[in-house]
Amino acid sequence: MKSSELRQSFLSFFESKQHQVVESSSLIPSNDPTLLFTNAGMVQFKDVFLGADQRPYSRATTSQRCVRAGGKHNDLENVGYTARHHTFFEMLGNFSFGDYFKQEAIGYAWEFLTEVLGLPKDKLLVTVYAEDDEAYAIWKNEIGLPEEKIIRIGDNKGSRYASDNFWAMGDTGPCGPCTEVFYDHGEHIWGGPPGSPEEDGDRFIEIWNVVFMQYNRSANGDMANLPKPSVDTGMGLERIAAILQGVHSNYEIDLFQNLIKATAQVVGTDDLSSQSLRVIADHIRSCSFMIVDGVVPSNEGRGYVLRRIIRRAVRHGNKLGQKQVFFHKLVEALDVEMGDAYPELRKLKDRVASILLKEEEQFAKTLDQGMRILEEAISDLGDSKVIPGETIFKLYDTYGFPADLTNDVAREAGLDIDEAGFEAAMNEQRARARSASNFSMDMSNSISVDGQTEFTGYSYLEGQSPVEQILVDGDTVTSLSQGQKGLVVLAETPFYGESGGQVGDQGWLRGPAAVKVTNTTKQGKVHLHHVEVREGTLNLGDVVTTEVDRSLRNATALNHSATHLLHEALRRVLGDHVLQKGSLVNSERLRFDFSHFEGLTAAELEQVEDMVNEQVRLNHETVTEVMDIEAAKAKGAHALFGEKYDSQVRVLTMGADYSIELCGGTHVKRTGDIGLFKIVQESGIAAGVRRIEALTGKAAIDATRQTEVSLSKIASLFKSSKEAAFDKVAGLNDQARSMQKEIDVLKAKLAAQAGADLSSQATDINGGKLLVAQVEIEDPKGLRDLLDRLKSKLESAVILLAAVNDGKVSLIAGVTKELTSKVKAGDLIKMAAPYVDGRGGGRPDMAQAGGSKPEGVAEVLAIVPDWVNERV
Ligand code: ALA
Repeated sequence: MKSSELRQSFLSFFESKQHQVVESSSLIPSNDPTLLFTNAGMVQFKDVFLGADQRPYSRATTSQRCVRAGGKHNDLENVGYTARHHTFFEMLGNFSFGDYFKQEAIGYAWEFLTEVLGLPKDKLLVTVYAEDDEAYAIWKNEIGLPEEKIIRIGDNKGSRYASDNFWAMGDTGPCGPCTEVFYDHGEHIWGGPPGSPEEDGDRFIEIWNVVFMQYNRSANGDMANLPKPSVDTGMGLERIAAILQGVHSNYEIDLFQNLIKATAQVVGTDDLSSQSLRVIADHIRSCSFMIVDGVVPSNEGRGYVLRRIIRRAVRHGNKLGQKQVFFHKLVEALDVEMGDAYPELRKLKDRVASILLKEEEQFAKTLDQGMRILEEAISDLGDSKVIPGETIFKLYDTYGFPADLTNDVAREAGLDIDEAGFEAAMNEQRARARSASNFSMDMSNSISVDGQTEFTGYSYLEGQSPVEQILVDGDTVTSLSQGQKGLVVLAETPFYGESGGQVGDQGWLRGPAAVKVTNTTKQGKVHLHHVEVREGTLNLGDVVTTEVDRSLRNATALNHSATHLLHEALRRVLGDHVLQKGSLVNSERLRFDFSHFEGLTAAELEQVEDMVNEQVRLNHETVTEVMDIEAAKAKGAHALFGEKYDSQVRVLTMGADYSIELCGGTHVKRTGDIGLFKIVQESGIAAGVRRIEALTGKAAIDATRQTEVSLSKIASLFKSSKEAAFDKVAGLNDQARSMQKEIDVLKAKLAAQAGADLSSQATDINGGKLLVAQVEIEDPKGLRDLLDRLKSKLESAVILLAAVNDGKVSLIAGVTKELTSKVKAGDLIKMAAPYVDGRGGGRPDMAQAGGSKPEGVAEVLAIVPDWVNERV
């Protein structure tokens, strides 16, 4: 059975058991900043198990794309070296949300394996959680498995519920006991049944995990019952396909064999058994689907995992002798294998290939160099079998050579790597980077402030507070006098400290002194007011009134709120792959970076702009709530991966549930405050990352007016109305174009004329004619055309033309075929160029030079005839 048929047969089987066939979700889990990639079928249903989300169905089945690379489940380093590890795989699953439980779950699994797929019953055995008598009894009494084929596995990993038969998504969240089905690949393969000392062998392979979701584990380890007992199962498509196709390794199944053949072809090798081919065939799957789901190569988070996998693939191609870019070419072959089942891949394959190509080209430059350095380091090792951490770090830091590539190479050479040493070097570098980035920020550099400033600025723009600390150049001082600059820490403040893309507030501190606040930043939970004393002296302990500049703050709020509306509009118009990559909001404009593959069309931009403005007009109230992170996620708040959120978070809802985000920024009271939203620029800033810049409120109106003023000026210049201005300008443009054409024709005529005149100046030389002349032609192409015309007119000739324009000399030499054996145009030019302080060269029949000394032209013209005559 082909992999694609198997996938379909699984989904159809469960559909016939009243399961809703649900599409695979993205590899990027929505609403879960703790999870790097979707790594199991249940990820998209997590909230359904927890009771926080409801679906119109209580039974579902999926074929879910999964990545296990980076994060908790990381298989990257094993890929290619074992029969069954992949960075990317497909998990077939069936799910019950408070519908059926153990009995049906086990019954369905058995029916599918033995009746639909026809696996021999005597090849199957199962494990159950040691305490799960119920599951044991079902296998024994209802399925009829002999007792020796039902193995109980308990808490054998050091703590309560730490067991191969107790499945948990992570340290917290839904979990429960499970039963696993194993397949016996036969005596000829080494290994023992689960629970035996030889269980790590390859003979008994787990094919299906059936989890009885029962509990929700909280951070302190408490197990609360889920609202309803549920079922979550997972079967690796590649493993079960291997069994059905009678092969032992996943890499021997049809899908992989085709990819491996395609890989061999683009890499240029015949050895289909090469491990490197497997690595590449595996990696093209994870890389392509990550890009489909909006990940782009970068130096952090998911983007870095992607970059590492691409680089590993390229390195393996390189190892097989392919020094050119090749990896991106495999997207086509992948599409043939998987595009039917995943239309999103088919749709985006060109984009995927172009992003891979860019990354390959970038890496190609560093790969050679990195490999040379690594090979040298290995040959310098002497008796040691360990590559030092410093070397790994240097390769990574200076040459962009990821540590797992070094590890890979080490492994092939039978060496180990000093991981601890590498980590230490990395940590040192992080510390250096931290102090460096602080340093460049300004004076908030090396200071140490502890504690917490109470921020009152969500509700107030004014207040009062004692001055708690004053710093100048990192030192604590007791006062700041007129004209001095420093940092001020207050007990409480309405000044927003720069964070989350929103700039810091400006304003005044007033008391005995008048102090201008030019910016506010944050260090931990302390707000640092960057100040300059304008009048009087500010003393430690003074009570000052705080005044935030309202107009700046309000204008900033409009932009920040509009950013949220924009984010949601982009997701609705372009799709869920749109992820925020960065943002900046200040009082003047907003900037929003997001993942998307191509420039937005004018229609898309219009749609986005309209959608935001519609929300503005609906004028819903902005609602902020503080709640715990789990509740926020259940509410559907977008959280950014890698951001550290406190356990209590601020959830901002705009436009009556239109946009729900976690955000600590300051916002409008009602969307109508934004007034008008106007996109002014859309551009690409990196492969797969777009940027939108936009204006709101008065700035948007001013910009619109500005455009109108420009249009009015154009209209009056061309004596037309604004409405007719376009047609008028377009008409003039056409006219200019046809005039230009006419000018070109006339110029050509003149030049032909000049050529005809010139040819009469040619003198006789042995075997043909010689023409040496200064001409008045501006553009190089005109000069070349003239030369060509003269060559064909004179038939057998040596020609040198010189032109002077704006103090620059152009020389061009031409020699017809009959004479090139005696005189070469390149030699002639090389001889002549120095007279005009120039350099040049070319072919035997045509050569050019540029020079900067017009005075030399006469000399050139004078010496060429002798030089030529000596040679013909
Ligand atoms: N969620 C279960 C697993 O990943 C089925 O094994």
